[in-house]
Amino acid sequence: MNQIFEHVEKINNELSLPGDKSISHRAVMFASLADGISIIKNCSNSEDVRSTINCFSQLGCSFEETGDKIRITGKGFKGFSKPREVLYAGNSGTTSRLMCGILAAQDFESVITGDESLSLRPMKRIIEPLRLMGAKISASENDTLPIIIKPSNELHSVKYTLEVASAQVKSAILLCAIHLNEESIISEDRDTRNHTEMLLNLKIEKTIKGKSVFASKLNYPEPFHLNIPSDISSAAFFIVLTLLSENSKLIIKNISLNETRTGILKVLKEMGANIDVYNVGIEKGENIGDITIKSSKLKNINIPTKLIPNIIDEIPILSIAGVFSEGVFEIRGAKELRVKESDRIKSLCSNFTKLGLKVAEYDDGFSVDGRLENQKFEFESYGDHRIAMAFSIMSMLMKKGGTINNFECVGISNPNFIDQLKAISITG
Ligand code: S3P
Repeated sequence: MNQIFEHVEKINNELSLPGDKSISHRAVMFASLADGISIIKNCSNSEDVRSTINCFSQLGCSFEETGDKIRITGKGFKGFSKPREVLYAGNSGTTSRLMCGILAAQDFESVITGDESLSLRPMKRIIEPLRLMGAKISASENDTLPIIIKPSNELHSVKYTLEVASAQVKSAILLCAIHLNEESIISEDRDTRNHTEMLLNLKIEKTIKGKSVFASKLNYPEPFHLNIPSDISSAAFFIVLTLLSENSKLIIKNISLNETRTGILKVLKEMGANIDVYNVGIEKGENIGDITIKSSKLKNINIPTKLIPNIIDEIPILSIAGVFSEGVFEIRGAKELRVKESDRIKSLCSNFTKLGLKVAEYDDGFSVDGRLENQKFEFESYGDHRIAMAFSIMSMLMKKGGTINNFECVGISNPNFIDQLKAISITG
């Protein structure tokens, strides 16, 4: 489906967004692991989190949804039933990778598959550490899905330092580790998102190189109630649209302000963005608060490599902000972008090239510069939700609007994207 976007004159309203996708995945997983009933409020309604719910239904957990609440009956330690069919993770890297950690510790065989894009994404990064823990896990010849996990009676704790800065890898190891008596220690030198640590209340120690996280059976989850804050990665699209539209103001309440996720606010503020953060509180270790965004004049800055894991999902929309800002937008040290839902370096560069901008593509990033032509463009989403949403915002910022191909992929993270845009936009 092609989606047409007209130029937006102004943004003005208050927006509430569904729950953070990363926290929602974990909430569904931990409630499923726990023995009894957990209640989750404001869970993400994304297709990705739906994939996680479907997988745990296949493992015998039950989910009752009423209004914005989900009541989950978890199965307790090793209480899952053997799935009758393969577990389908759809497009979701988080579902497939984190589940491998959980399934490696079960007493039955299981198989995980995914859609075409997920089946191209690297799985060696979780297979290697899980094998080091004694897991019986194998993938296709290219170390991609389908993954087969067999029961192992040789599982043991591990001391492991992450080779790629990935919260999914860290979490897969931690989720296997919470099934073991002895303590595992996972270290990282660049901070990746820490929702698993926060929600399971894991011990964390700062080290000279970064930090270490400790996990054992003592950290196995118990039933809980959780109100999930709004997704900052979904909000990023509306934030950039507001900043770059004239005379505009947007309020987003109860948004996730976890410090491993707020890099986008930090970078935009340094670029000159007028963003106010207030009513800051904490729920289950997760920082939350309200933000107000106002139209701003932005300037490109040097984005430090250390911050990349913190802004990894926001780079597509950040680069759109960069195109409308003074100076050249450049991102480096972000090779991970090549193995996301699409090769995001390629996806971004080819759409920017189409616009007639000056683009330099590197192995680990790109730069983009130049003036936008006053013309209507058709952008390619590459079936990647964040590319589709980034160029939707680009289209709305362009005088003549634009079109996005294969737009339906936005449902992967935000099925209500269009309705939310309508609720805040004033068109000319
Ligand atoms: C996620 C971690 C990140 C992120 C993804 C969600 C998570 O992936 O890009 O959208 O929920 O743990 P990596 O762990 O591959 O960096």
